[in-house]
Amino acid sequence: MATTMSAVLLLFLTVFSSVFVLPALTSDDAGNKPGADKYKFLYFASITGGSHYFNLVASGRVLARQGHRVVSLVSSSNPTSHWEKDSSLFSFVVFNSSWTKQNRSDATDSLSASVLTGSLNHFWGHLLLDPVTRRKLDADGMMQMWRDECADLFADSASMKRLREEKFDMLVGDEFIACSPMLAQALDIPFVLNSVFFAIPSRHAMWSGLPLAPSYVPERAMGLTDRMTFLQRVQNVLGHFYLGNILFPLGSCNFKVFDKLKVKYNIKPEISTLESHKQALLYFMHGSFGLEFPRPMNPNTIYVLYNGGLDPNQTLDKEVAKFLDSAPDGVLLFSLGSNVRMLGPKQAQIFADAFNMLPHRVLWQSGADLTALKLGENTMVAKWLPLTYVMEQPNVRAYLSHAASFSMNEAMWAGLPMVGLPLFEEQMDDMVRVESRGAGLTLDITTITPETLSHAIRRVMTEPGFRKNAQHVSQIMRDLQNTPSPADNVARWILHVTRFGGEHLRPAVLDLNFVQRNLLDVYLFLAVALASVIFVNLAVCRLCCRCLCRRGRSGHFKKE
Ligand SMILES: *[C@@H]1O[C@H](CO)[C@@H](O)[C@H](O)[C@H]1NC(C)=O
Ligand SMILES: *[C@@H]1O[C@H](CO)[C@@H](O)[C@H](O)[C@H]1NC(C)=O
Ligand SMILES: *[C@@H]1O[C@H](CO)[C@@H](O)[C@H](O)[C@H]1NC(C)=O
Repeated sequence: MATTMSAVLLLFLTVFSSVFVLPALTSDDAGNKPGADKYKFLYFASITGGSHYFNLVASGRVLARQGHRVVSLVSSSNPTSHWEKDSSLFSFVVFNSSWTKQNRSDATDSLSASVLTGSLNHFWGHLLLDPVTRRKLDADGMMQMWRDECADLFADSASMKRLREEKFDMLVGDEFIACSPMLAQALDIPFVLNSVFFAIPSRHAMWSGLPLAPSYVPERAMGLTDRMTFLQRVQNVLGHFYLGNILFPLGSCNFKVFDKLKVKYNIKPEISTLESHKQALLYFMHGSFGLEFPRPMNPNTIYVLYNGGLDPNQTLDKEVAKFLDSAPDGVLLFSLGSNVRMLGPKQAQIFADAFNMLPHRVLWQSGADLTALKLGENTMVAKWLPLTYVMEQPNVRAYLSHAASFSMNEAMWAGLPMVGLPLFEEQMDDMVRVESRGAGLTLDITTITPETLSHAIRRVMTEPGFRKNAQHVSQIMRDLQNTPSPADNVARWILHVTRFGGEHLRPAVLDLNFVQRNLLDVYLFLAVALASVIFVNLAVCRLCCRCLCRRGRSGHFKKE
């Protein structure tokens, strides 16, 4: 047993020292061996739901198949269809939310309606919102739902009792909400956090101990690359400070609300919500350096690129297959995700008209009813598509979307150039990266016309540079992906910290205060020391000068 342990440790060490570009544990893991310890995991991303939940549970399925116990904590407001399909693998605890399923769906629609007007597709979006929209998004919308549901969870004593009785070994939670660390503390278990994006520089740096580097790491939603002019660096430093210290902790994440909950339910009230976040053993980030600008990462930050591996059972509808196969001039794939439900008829017609002007075919995925639209002959609408599978079809030549992190990465993985209409969150950053690689074009959804849209699509579909660059990114991504199954890799990392804890990966910077971290005390000390040396030197010089002068004068005097 001891030799197995040291062999495993040796393996980890080898991996850490050699594969710093893409940390992944090798496949010979003790967790797969019969008789190895079984653990109990609590999975929690139900408050945010949607893509956050789907992203999170991928590793839970792997752990459950390995024989570990996985309990998924869902809210009564989550659509049952989202979680039910895992009922053969997971157990569920459903907590009682004050929001209904309809409330949740209304909040999502209200956010979609707002972002489709382009109100949040720039850095100052949130700050510049009119009070009515801001109230709709903050006080009545998603963010309020996240806060309410966190309070609902702790108020649901029956569910909390069930969770306590399980005596979990680890909580796997969503990085986006402050409720995950709090729940882990309430259950007195360690936790790891999972993000659906790549690390947001200010947030991840200030909260997770990453080196602060606004000199070359562009802040979220600023439209900047890693090469900045002097003024852009000024802008980046201010943005970095604003997001990390004001917008996230006081606005969208609102730590104050959670600090109050901690006191109310006596959940380690002596540790603030921010300090609680820093106790995570691992942070999983979604993305790849095939596209991301190079920047430092801590050993407890693991980046993961899911690439269609989330649903391996994909097949194509016969009609769709025929439409693709008989399109030698190429097909544009178009999806706005779930936002499309709130796409008004006027805005939808802009897309339809733009497509009608193209010599290529267009495959439009839309869950919404588009029968009222005037569609061109070349456009086919499909209610649902296995997107990653369609992207790999040879006649599909480009992807038009709002550039959400998931589908953007999938398109790049498939080597498809993009036309992006970023709406909010990480989407603007995604398109900055795609454009900086020459693999696509960005348009602003507020100003598109059928002419500008079709012109951009035509360029991306016909100019060979875009396709070549996208394929280059694809090749790098595939080459960096040193694991056949990202979900297996995440599961291994979770098992690793469940067995060994996370101290050996956790940078000590997380326990330093602002002064220590920024070496302000050291610089002050050195400045005082330097000043003292200079002062003493000057004093000595002056003394010597005075002596010499006096002697010189007296000598002079004598001579006279
Ligand atoms: C859920 O909460 C509502 C209102 O807060 C209450 O009426 C209902 O009985 C609760 N349901 C359960 C199963 O606890
Ligand atoms: C939830 O829906 C009900 C019924 O439509 C409504 O009365 C209530 O205000 C909604 N709650 C929230 C928080 O939106
Ligand atoms: C894929 O389909 C097969 C056969 O229907 C099934 O056994 C398997 O569990 C499916 N895999 C997933 C991930 O749904």
